[in-house]
Amino acid sequence: MKPFLLLPAAVTALAGAPAFAQAAGQWQKPEQIWTASCSYCHEQDFAPELRGRNLPAEAIAPIVRQGVPGMPAFHPSEINDRELAGLSRWISASPAPAAKKK
Ligand code: HEC
Repeated sequence: MKPFLLLPAAVTALAGAPAFAQAAGQWQKPEQIWTASCSYCHEQDFAPELRGRNLPAEAIAPIVRQGVPGMPAFHPSEINDRELAGLSRWISASPAPAAKKK
């Protein structure tokens, strides 16, 4: 029954959290930012896949800060400069994901 006892704390932690569930300075690793903040568009047909394209990290970061039509700008309060640099390098270096089964 332990999971039940833990549940209220988890619910409290999530309540009121924006879609970007974490604030700048709290991300553990780039992949986590990708999964929480990018993948729901960029791993769907909604937006192009970014991994496996050797996109230069210096090109990725400004796009994330400014946004583009269909994509929100991410502010330093959500992803700080250090985290954004890491995320950009991670995307740049990541191989293309295996083809999705449909
Ligand atoms: C709400 C959906 C959405 C989210 C969330 C989102 N994007 Fe995007 N992104 C888009 C769309 C739409 C485009 C524009 C595609 C086009 O028209 O070329 C785009 C374009 C980009 C581009 C330019 C791609 C290219 O081919 O030139 C980069 C880089 C990018 N996004 C990075 C990110 C990163 C990093 C994150 C997470 C921090 C993120 N995006 C989150 C929707 C999203």
